[in-house]
Order: sequence, then C-alpha cells, then structure tokens
Amino acid sequence: MDKTNSIATNNIQNVESERNRKAVIRIKNVCKSFGNNHVLNGFNMDLYEGENVVVMGKSGSGKSVMIKCLVGLVWPDSGYIEVMGKEISTLDRQTLDELRSDIGFLFQGSALYDSMTVRENLEFPLRRHQKKLGNLSDTSTLVLEALENVGLGHTMDLMPTELSGGMKRRVALARTLILKPKIILYDEPTSGLDPITAKEIIELMRSIQKKYGTSSIIITHDVDCARVISERMILLVDGINYAEGSYAQLSASIDPKVEAFFKK
Ligand SMILES: Nc1ncnc2c1ncn2[C@@H]1O[C@H](COP(=O)(O)OP(=O)(O)OP(=O)(O)O)[C@@H](O)[C@H]1O
Ligand SMILES: [Mg+2]
Repeated sequence: MDKTNSIATNNIQNVESERNRKAVIRIKNVCKSFGNNHVLNGFNMDLYEGENVVVMGKSGSGKSVMIKCLVGLVWPDSGYIEVMGKEISTLDRQTLDELRSDIGFLFQGSALYDSMTVRENLEFPLRRHQKKLGNLSDTSTLVLEALENVGLGHTMDLMPTELSGGMKRRVALARTLILKPKIILYDEPTSGLDPITAKEIIELMRSIQKKYGTSSIIITHDVDCARVISERMILLVDGINYAEGSYAQLSASIDPKVEAFFKK
C-alpha cells in the first residue's frame, strides 16, 4: 500500500473511532475574508472531548483568525461554528460571555497587563466572570492555586516586567486556568521561547490536560511541540483543512505541501 492510501485507511479508522466521541467544537465550511484577502475558504474541523489537536499553517495562513472565530472575537462571513453544543452565531452577548468563561484562550504572546501585578492579572478574569464563580470574597486561594499549578506561586506580587518570557507565558497560562475552562485554545504557546523552556511549557500543557481533562486546540509552528502533544494534527493550507492525521501519518506524507511542514 502506498503512503497516500495508508493515510486514507487510517483516516477511515479515525472517523470510525471519532463517531463514538463527543465533539466539543464543530467547525463547518467556515469562510472569512478581509477585503480581497481570502483567509479561510471553507475550513472544517471537529475537536473531541479530552483530545489535543494541533493546527499548523504558515504565517498569515489564518490560524489566529480561525480560533478567534471560536470565541466570537472574529465573525466568519459564512459557515457553521458550534462550541459545546451552542451555535456561536445565534448567541446573545450574555450567553456568549458565559460560554467564553468555559473556554480558556492563551493569546499569541502573553498578553499580560503590564500595569497590573501578577495577582491582579489573575483576578481580572475572576471579576469578569463573577457569575460563574458566585460571590468571591477572597480570591487569594484561587490565584495562588492557579499560580502553583504552573510552578509560580512566589510571583504573586511581582509586575510582568519583572518576569522572564517563559514565566510570563506560565502566568498567562495560570490566568487561563483560573476559570477552570473545559476547552483551551493555545495560540503559539511556545513561540519565542528557548527549546528547554518550550519543553517545560509543553509538559505543563500535558499535565493540565491530564489533571482537568480539558480539550485543546494548539496552534503552533513548532514541529517538536506538535509531535509531543498532538493526538491529531490539521494542516491549514490555502484557507482549508488541507491534511489531517496523526503526527506519524502526516510526517510520512509524500505530498509536497505536507512535507514542507516537517522539513527542518
Ligand atoms: N482584523 C483584521 N483585519 C484585517 N486583516 C486581518 C485581521 N486579522 C487578520 N487579518 C489578516 O488575516 C490573515 C491571517 O492572519 P492570522 O493572524 O490568522 O495569521 P496566522 O496564521 O495566525 O499567522 P502567524 O503564524 O504569523 O500568527 C493575515 O493576512 C492578516 O493580515
Ligand atoms: Mg497567529
């Protein structure tokens, strides 16, 4: 059997096993253009409960646009997006906001507020989603727990400028975790980090998934990150889900557009 056929066969097996799993995100035929810049041209993917899916695509291919569509930060021109059983385009502001509290979004870069301490950065989502958490008289325990989860309990009263790049990424992850999300969207979690720190962040992401049973979409350029963390990978090329499979399947592909991702 040639490699293309074996990918096709494995995909059929994947489809069979996926039928029995619950999709927490469904994206169907999503299109998004900015003027003449046609970024997404019918993108499809599902994310199943408890899995890590890596999405790779070259710079400017629309990865960030795609995950922003999942939380209503960007609205697609057409297509269907469902998150935890709710179709995003039908939600009023309040329902969308409630849904967002179940979705952790680790933005590209760390996006910490530089004028706030680490503690205040972590309290921010708590205040924003007070309804979910009930009346919180003391947030210290939650803040400390979230920071300890990423090994940074001692940084509570520091300013972001006093942290290294890797520490900032961890604090951003703690801020994402503090609302105990069911889904985490990671946009380039290891970019700009040295390989050792990147590895530590990947380990942290894995331990979070184990501890909380979260489902994640991980956007990355980092082939090593994809190999370690993904159960399934999707390659975004020309605005569509061009190829899909495990790391082993895709890295063995002879399609030049797929091979290009794995060349070092
Ligand atoms: N708000 C916006 N207005 C206009 N164009 C936008 C907007 N957001 C994104 N784009 C364009 O959409 C395209 C895809 O952007 P996106 O940020 O999704 O790329 P990406 O795949 O995440 O790239 P990178 O790997 O560099 O982060 C780019 O051409 C970008 O200029
Ligand atoms: Mg991006």
